[in-house]
Amino acid sequence: MKRRPGNAVHGSSTETSTDRLLDWRREFPSVEASLHFISHSLGAMPRDVEESLREYAQTWRGRSIRAWEEKWFELPVEMGEVLAGLIGAEPGSVSVHPNVTLAQAVALSTVDFTPPRNRLVCTAEDFPSVLYLYEGLARRGAEIVRVPAHDGRAVREGDIVAAVDERTAIVAISSVLFRTSQVLDLAPITRRARAAGALTLVDAYQMVGTVPVDVRALGIDMLAGGSVKWLCGGPGVGYLYVSPLVQERLRPALTGWMAHEHPFDFDPGPMLWHQGPRRYMTGTPAIPALLAARPGFETVAQIGVAPIREKSLRQTERMIAWADEYGFHLVSPREAARRGGTVVVDVPRADAVCAALLAADVLLDHRPGVGLRLAPHFYTRDEEVDLVMKRVREEVGRAAG
Ligand SMILES: Cc1ncc(COP(=O)(O)O)c(C=O)c1O
Repeated sequence: MKRRPGNAVHGSSTETSTDRLLDWRREFPSVEASLHFISHSLGAMPRDVEESLREYAQTWRGRSIRAWEEKWFELPVEMGEVLAGLIGAEPGSVSVHPNVTLAQAVALSTVDFTPPRNRLVCTAEDFPSVLYLYEGLARRGAEIVRVPAHDGRAVREGDIVAAVDERTAIVAISSVLFRTSQVLDLAPITRRARAAGALTLVDAYQMVGTVPVDVRALGIDMLAGGSVKWLCGGPGVGYLYVSPLVQERLRPALTGWMAHEHPFDFDPGPMLWHQGPRRYMTGTPAIPALLAARPGFETVAQIGVAPIREKSLRQTERMIAWADEYGFHLVSPREAARRGGTVVVDVPRADAVCAALLAADVLLDHRPGVGLRLAPHFYTRDEEVDLVMKRVREEVGRAAG
């Protein structure tokens, strides 16, 4: 599956001849059909996905039950290795799941929320799906501490640090906020958590693939992310990193036969957990989703997140310059180190503006309370950056009547 991109399809501007990441553009043919500024929500589909899914159907038809032994059983572990490389993790430390919510549920099932250490510290700006999950844990003895945001929905690291103490069992926070694209500085938070004897669980969905992260350097205990957005993997895959430093003492209550050391012994228990990444798996993995996700994951791994970030910072800065010129209210952070891969601008009637642009093949989204979210990615041309902002301005003008 691994391959290098072919010759670049160069555009006319000077940027395209110096932007080596555009060499990958031909692996994502769908980006030619629209202005694709939606990678924070759904990354573009790699060309190889069709072949990968065709192969899946052929394998199922031709090899039937033998496919498990020949390919499918090892696939989740192989995918975990690709993901581990992307986040600076130790080999064998990443398991795959159907989505981030379930990956987090597995992680949280390792925690006993018994007083005096029964607190889960999160923030008001975490993704609603995981907030609902935390709310559910309150019925199981967890005390949820939701750190509030300030003006502009900004979350302050100092507030999170101050919320952590000896009553904290786990700190579960996003590293890049989905609404505003604010990047949180995780170092003081993981430091404080360790000192207080609490675990950390980072929702890095809006980070991995666009902002570099090094789980080891940051001392993160657990991290969850998924396939759909910056990794261009399509729907169906979440993943969970668990640091080998805490692995031994964590026993997931949400578990299954794929987590057993010898699943094909069909041993009725007690549970004997696998010593590697399968330890956090549950039941039968979603093979077609993994195969659809593989080309995107491998592409991002081959490019490397550092050059993607460099380009993202350049292009998002260019978008911000246009936003200023057009008088849009900038919601995402202006400061480069604070800004994720998405630019968020609030405009009047953002929902109507978004709907009109989608109908005209300009792919973006809007979120209540913050406005329009737009994201370039490694396959984006500078002229598209200019064009998308112009299209937004035109549509804002039209919506204003
Ligand atoms: C930060 C973040 N976490 C979690 C999710 C949802 O995760 P899932 O649907 O895989 O559970 C999203 C977006 O869909 C997100 O942006």
